[in-house]
Amino acid sequence: MFESKSGIFLIGGLGFFAFAFLSNAVVPILMYRDLPEKTSYEVVNPNLIYQFEDLSRRYPKQFKAAFGKPTREACAEALEIGHKIYIGEGCWHCHSQFVRPVSNEDRRWGPVAQTEEYQNELQRPVLFGTRRVGPDLSREGGRRSNGWHAVHFFRPKMLSPDSPMPEYPWLFDGSPDKPNRRGLALITYVQWLGSWLESYPYYEDYVPIGQGGEE
Ligand code: HEC
Repeated sequence: MFESKSGIFLIGGLGFFAFAFLSNAVVPILMYRDLPEKTSYEVVNPNLIYQFEDLSRRYPKQFKAAFGKPTREACAEALEIGHKIYIGEGCWHCHSQFVRPVSNEDRRWGPVAQTEEYQNELQRPVLFGTRRVGPDLSREGGRRSNGWHAVHFFRPKMLSPDSPMPEYPWLFDGSPDKPNRRGLALITYVQWLGSWLESYPYYEDYVPIGQGGEE
């Protein structure tokens, strides 16, 4: 067997396969099997609550009908709905959620993705995406205002004239200033992306509701 070229290639091929299986499957499983998976309630954080309260002030009528008060429980519920819509509408066909350590992607989209970021309910199934027609969304949270997202989901061309992104009018009760339950949930979800990172924009004027902030 070792005398023929094909024998050497066969053994080499099997060897590479075994090595890839070891490094890409066995080692990661052994390394991360004890890392607990976070629930959507656990991944709610002050940055996200800021955005969720902002939604309740910006669209008081729609928000009240959809989620009542901007509590942590309601926020976790919005995240779960938003996550389902993101999958259902096929946003992942055009958007990735993975900043790679190549091509200076971190200069464009922020810190390179870390393993822990994927260890939560909202990454099941993992939403790395398939293509990059639009920008990577891993660091989208806090980059735009809630109002910007509402108008953009209603009609992307209003903000980005050449955008190939589809319109999502069914996330609204008629106009971009009336996002419905699903619209509010999707905005909450995109504001959550990367919200636990230090690089998330800092809000100096943030006053939580009930602590001196206007209702
Ligand atoms: C056909 C491909 C396509 C689909 C499907 C799509 N998008 Fe986009 N999206 C784009 C492109 C291209 C851009 C950049 C131009 C623009 O701003 O509209 C973009 C921009 C965005 C932005 C702004 C990013 C930034 O900060 O500049 C967000 C947020 C976004 N998309 C979210 C979504 C969500 C959520 C969905 C699903 C409901 C979705 N997209 C579906 C192509 C797509």
